[in-house]
Amino acid sequence: MTKCIGCKDKEASRLECPTCKKLGIPGSFFCEQECFKKNWGTHKQVHAFMQSLAAANASAVSSGVDAKGIPTSMSGFKWTGPTRPKYPLSATRVVPPHIVRPDYADHPQGECISEARGAHRNRVLNSTEIEAMRKVCRLTREVLDAIAAHIRPGVTSDELDAICHEECIKRDSYPSPLNYRCFPKSVCISVNEVICHGIPDQRPLVEGDIVNLDVSLYHGGFHGDVNATYPVGQVSEEDATLIATTKEATESAIAMCKPGVLYRDIGNKIESIVKPKGYGIVRQYTAHGINQLFHCAPYPVHYGGSKTPGKMEAGQIFTIEPMINGGVASLDHWRDNWTAVTKDGKKSAQFEETILITETGAEVLTRPGSVIKDGRIVDPVKA
Ligand code: MF3
Ligand code: CO
Repeated sequence: MTKCIGCKDKEASRLECPTCKKLGIPGSFFCEQECFKKNWGTHKQVHAFMQSLAAANASAVSSGVDAKGIPTSMSGFKWTGPTRPKYPLSATRVVPPHIVRPDYADHPQGECISEARGAHRNRVLNSTEIEAMRKVCRLTREVLDAIAAHIRPGVTSDELDAICHEECIKRDSYPSPLNYRCFPKSVCISVNEVICHGIPDQRPLVEGDIVNLDVSLYHGGFHGDVNATYPVGQVSEEDATLIATTKEATESAIAMCKPGVLYRDIGNKIESIVKPKGYGIVRQYTAHGINQLFHCAPYPVHYGGSKTPGKMEAGQIFTIEPMINGGVASLDHWRDNWTAVTKDGKKSAQFEETILITETGAEVLTRPGSVIKDGRIVDPVKA
């Protein structure tokens, strides 16, 4: 049944919002006139938001690009490596109105008011909340796998973004990155020297690239977060080792998780594995708590020797997501204010999972069925 977008409870009738119809926003059906009236105050914000989006799109699409598709606003930028953006970005993708949206989705500046209010405390979730987190994290993993299946030379990150968007909608989920602090797309795709927060664009992947897909969903009022780095076709041995070591470091840190472990020990563990290889551990971006908020406390760092406070308690949920650079740890940002790149232009890899601490150890929520027991990750046996 298609639900009424007003009460989000009763079945929708053929009563469509006339303004949405005029603006070309699909699927705005209500159950009855009374419900339409009652929800008008909140619903009309959708109109204002969609109109501001259309304006932003028009300016993004019409803003100049050079012969290679590099936006003129970035001309003169000192690129740190070989990778370049390729504009114009595609038009902003629409999430149908029956899908429940996080607060920032309809904020014109993408501001996250809920995070600003309540992100400072380590929270213990109750069993209903934990069940909701299990579900959204399972869906998040499904979407990551669905996108990853399309990685090959020639596919653009914008095409992968379109797949992400569709796969989220199929699962009644909102793609958490979309409009989060004004992020313009539904997934972060970071290629080669891009460390994180790459914006999907028109650049085709080429053989030898490494690509990170960072997928986050909002479903049932909760966020899930997972990412992985993949080789495109055949990659150099050096790059394969960077990916493998980053994966190993992430897995070892996850394997330690249980009640009583210090959050700062995550970084100590990761450093012990990647330091001998001479890699750089990114310091500016950290892991994070995740629940009804996309990002909240704790914020465990991925490098050693930190004073990160707190220890793990049953019912807490957070990510582990080290960004490991083939060279120096320092970074720079492209002039889109999002794309983080390595300062020396060498490649960077990352893996991420969302973890729940339990009485006896932990669960890897983004890998359904995986539990942590006695310092080991026990994955479910595949049928
Ligand atoms: N998914 C990222 C993380 O792992 C956050 C992306 S924020 C966005 O925390 F706005 F870029 F999507
Ligand atoms: Co994350």
